[in-house]
Amino acid sequence: MTSPHVSSRADSRTGDAIGALVTGVREVVGRGLPPGLTADLVAEVLAPALGAADLLTAEQCQGDPDGYRQHLLHAEPDRSFSVVSLVWMPGQRTPIHDHLCWCVTGVHRGQENERRYRLATDGRNARLLPLADVVNPTGAIAAFAPPGDIHLVRNSFPAKTVSIHIYGADVGSLGTSIRRVYLAPEGGQ
Ligand SMILES: [Fe+2]
Repeated sequence: MTSPHVSSRADSRTGDAIGALVTGVREVVGRGLPPGLTADLVAEVLAPALGAADLLTAEQCQGDPDGYRQHLLHAEPDRSFSVVSLVWMPGQRTPIHDHLCWCVTGVHRGQENERRYRLATDGRNARLLPLADVVNPTGAIAAFAPPGDIHLVRNSFPAKTVSIHIYGADVGSLGTSIRRVYLAPEGGQ
């Protein structure tokens, strides 16, 4: 699958913890800084929220046996950013992809495994080269901005994993943060 199963309407029962997170992100985004720096500062806002028992409702942690699931938690009215929870059952994964905008991800519960790639080109042909395999346990944060943001994420944990993703775009209307999907390199994944 190329995009998550989506709940595209923000949950009106979203609580104070998400409200405080949104207020912090709004303050950072409002500074109008370059995308990479914005993502780094948003990561500092997200870090203390991860793992809190009151961050998400039970519904916002619900998975889908057919693929990882996205719950929209907040879409800023001016479309400058949005906040989602992604829920991964064991073994669920994204395709190899890059992104439309800056992204900040944080693991709220469980563990994500991430494979990062770079696109090598000789001017005519391009191919993907695996760069690194990264384990992101509960509390781990990643911040990035295109280009150079090609990766695959999967839940290799034996239980449900829930992560919070903040995007510099309105994924509520876009449906996904994915810009392009890439074929796996030969002999790899
Ligand atoms: Fe991604």
